[in-house]
Amino acid sequence: MTTSPAEAAEFIRSGRLAAFPTETVYGLGADVFDAAAVERIFEAKRRPADNPLIAHVGAVDQIPLLARELSRDAERLIERFFPGPLTLVLPRAANVPDVATAGLDTIGVRMPRHDLARLFLTAAATPVAAPSANLSGRPSPTTWQAVLEDLDGRIDCILQGEATEIGLESTVVDCSIDDAPVMLRTGAISLEQLAEVVPSIRIYDPSAVDAPVRSPGLKHRHYSPRARVHLCDAAVDPPTPLDAAYIGVTKPTASFRRAVVARDVDEYARRLFSFFRECDAAGIAEIYCESVDESGIGRALMDRLRRAAVG
Ligand code: TXA
Ligand code: MG
Repeated sequence: MTTSPAEAAEFIRSGRLAAFPTETVYGLGADVFDAAAVERIFEAKRRPADNPLIAHVGAVDQIPLLARELSRDAERLIERFFPGPLTLVLPRAANVPDVATAGLDTIGVRMPRHDLARLFLTAAATPVAAPSANLSGRPSPTTWQAVLEDLDGRIDCILQGEATEIGLESTVVDCSIDDAPVMLRTGAISLEQLAEVVPSIRIYDPSAVDAPVRSPGLKHRHYSPRARVHLCDAAVDPPTPLDAAYIGVTKPTASFRRAVVARDVDEYARRLFSFFRECDAAGIAEIYCESVDESGIGRALMDRLRRAAVG
C-alpha cells in the first residue's frame, strides 16, 4: 500500500500488479507488454480469459504502441475527450500480447484525466493494462478500501487515492471498423456529447438478430451485490422494510433499514457501487434503486442498475 505514484509505478516496471485510482473506478494494472504479469491480473480477479483488458496511457504519444491505425473519427474523439472517462476500441498493434486482448484483433485504449493516475502512468513509462480492481462479478471499486476487500493478498500494491469522482466505468466506443463508431458501454461521456463530435455514432444493439458479440465483457455477469436489486420509484412499499435498503434522488415514502437520498444523479452514480458493498457488509437482502431519466449520466446509471437487477 502506498500513496506514492512513483512507488506504485515501480511495481509495474518490475512485472508486478498495482491497483490505482482513476476518475471512474479503481483499476488493477500490469505492464501491457508483459504477458506473464497480465496473466496474473486474470488470476487475481478470477476473470474469464475471454474478457479483454483496457490499456491505459499517460500520454497520447503512447497510442501508436498499441494501435496500428486510427480512423478520422477516432482522431476526433481523442482530440476532444482524452484525457477523460472514454475508452476507444482500436485495431491492435502486433506487439501487444494476445492475453491482454483475449485474442481479439482490437484493443481498448484509455487515457485517464485523474492526477494521481497520470503521475502513476507517466512514471510506469509503459501502457498499463487494467480492468476494474474488483473480483469478477462484484461491483467495481470506487475506494481503495473496496479494492482491499476484494483483492487483499492477491495483488502486490494499492496506490491509495480518494474515492473516485464519477463512480461508474468509462464509456466504451468501438472505432475499429470501417463504418460508424459504435458505443459498446455507456458512461460519463454521454451519447449526446459523442454525437457532437461524431454525428454518425450508433448504440450497440446486442438483441439485433445478426449482432456479433462486439464487447465480450457485456455478456458476463456484472456489477452485482449479493443482495437482490429492484428498480422502483420513490413511492415503493417494500415487503420487508427492516431488511431492505433504498438509494435514489427522491426521499422514499416508506422507511428503510438504510437509505441514501443523493443530491442529484451525479451523486447517485458516484455512490451506487459503494452503497452496494455497504449493504452486503450489513447483510441486507433487498436493495431498492430509484429509476432515473436516461439522459447524460442517467443512461449509464440505468444500464448498471438493470444489469445488477438481472444478476
Ligand atoms: O473506467 C474504466 O473503464 C475502468 C478503469 C480502470 O479504466 N476499467 C474497466 O475495465 O472498467 P473492465 O475490464 O472492468 O471493463 C472493460 C470493458 C469490458 O466490458 C470489456 O469487454 C470491454 O471493455 N473491452 C475491452 N477491450 C475490448 C475490445 N478490444 N473490444 C471490445 N470490448 C473491449
Ligand atoms: Mg470490470
